[in-house]
Amino acid sequence: MEPLELWNPATFKNGFPHEYFRHKRDNDPVFWCEHPVWGGFWNVTRHADVQRVSRDSDCFKNQPNPFLAGDQPPAVDDGSNSLMLISLDPPDHTKMRKLVNRGFTPRRVRDLEVKIQAQVDRLIDQVADKTNCEMVNEIAVELPLQVIADLVGVPEEDRHKIFHWTEVSFGFDEKYTTEEMLDAGTQMFAYADQMCEIRKKEPHDDLISVLMEAEIDGESLDQLQIDVFFMLLQNAGSETTRNLITTGTLELIRHPDQMQMLKDDLSLIPNAVEELLRYTTPVIQFVRRPTYDTVVGEQEIKAGEPVVIWYPSANRDERAFENPDTLDLTRDASQHVAFGAGGPHFCLGASLARLEAKMMFEAIVGRFEGLELGVDDPATLPRLHSSLVDGYVELPLQWKSVKPAA
Ligand code: HEM
Repeated sequence: MEPLELWNPATFKNGFPHEYFRHKRDNDPVFWCEHPVWGGFWNVTRHADVQRVSRDSDCFKNQPNPFLAGDQPPAVDDGSNSLMLISLDPPDHTKMRKLVNRGFTPRRVRDLEVKIQAQVDRLIDQVADKTNCEMVNEIAVELPLQVIADLVGVPEEDRHKIFHWTEVSFGFDEKYTTEEMLDAGTQMFAYADQMCEIRKKEPHDDLISVLMEAEIDGESLDQLQIDVFFMLLQNAGSETTRNLITTGTLELIRHPDQMQMLKDDLSLIPNAVEELLRYTTPVIQFVRRPTYDTVVGEQEIKAGEPVVIWYPSANRDERAFENPDTLDLTRDASQHVAFGAGGPHFCLGASLARLEAKMMFEAIVGRFEGLELGVDDPATLPRLHSSLVDGYVELPLQWKSVKPAA
């Protein structure tokens, strides 16, 4: 098979190249890919190896950052990224994760349930009088953004600004320039500063107040750490969950028997969410760097050589899942790696994302009658320009009717 430019977002414009990765898992499970500026990087394709790299944080580091940067130079450790949770390594990561965990306790997530249900009902009610919509922008984008705004404590009247900065700063839309992306980031930081100022005078019951007050072993987060975390939350929490919702809905429509099974028994939805996470895998990869020479699979890897772990490939590994290319909403998919494969960086928002997805799929499956795609061939639908996150830019839907919220 011809090598693919795996660093190039254009390689993913028709979705993840599953055939290519199946071939690699069988024949060359840890392989080298040339990169125009980095020289190259290793690619880990099997479930067991993705787990090993993710969990062995003694050897594999996230610093200076875990991003595969298109045709840009490799990340250098100039300290600029080291404030971001996902770019830290133990022991700094452990300390910061403990501090931000204070804002993600099971109780805080559970407390959001009523708000999430209200947002889901509102979003579906908004399209209920119609018989078609464009799902990404009319439904899926809003839910995670609103939920994070509720969690963090952004007032209603400011949310549109934050949503706009999130869209621009993450940069999956080619129309934004680097300058615009940086500017959106700066505005987001200034906004977080202002939120903290307000809470210094009067603490609120929200995540920003929790982060400001959190203290472990005499250490607390400084202003810049709070700003950076505020931005990471907006991006990590919204650009991912929306894709699970849209691609998940698309797959349910493509598998009418599975959709009907859920309609007949909504209690199957939590398990279905796990299988949809496995099957659609919204986050594609992250990079690690070994601090000493090591072996992954049977491949020797030298200290410092970039190693990319491919989650969609691990989630379709025949060694971990039977008939991995079949969507089976009743299977035990609990070993999927859509939120990471274990280890210190396992997704901080996993339980929140699961709750949002459960409630949204309950509404989609339970309320829409005669739900169909609004295009003949989903392969023609535009996808994100990204090698990090997989999803659709647009998803036209049509239906016969919408039931009122339960
Ligand atoms: C379907 C939705 C989501 C998916 C597929 C997803 C996936 C991931 C993955 C693959 C990682 C990296 C794991 C690793 O390196 O081991 C991650 C980390 C992270 N996620 Fe999520 N995520 C989702 C939703 C969310 C939400 C809703 C939030 C917050 C509100 C969130 C916040 C984070 C943060 C802060 C990290 C970094 C954790 C660390 O470095 O310690 N994610 N996520």
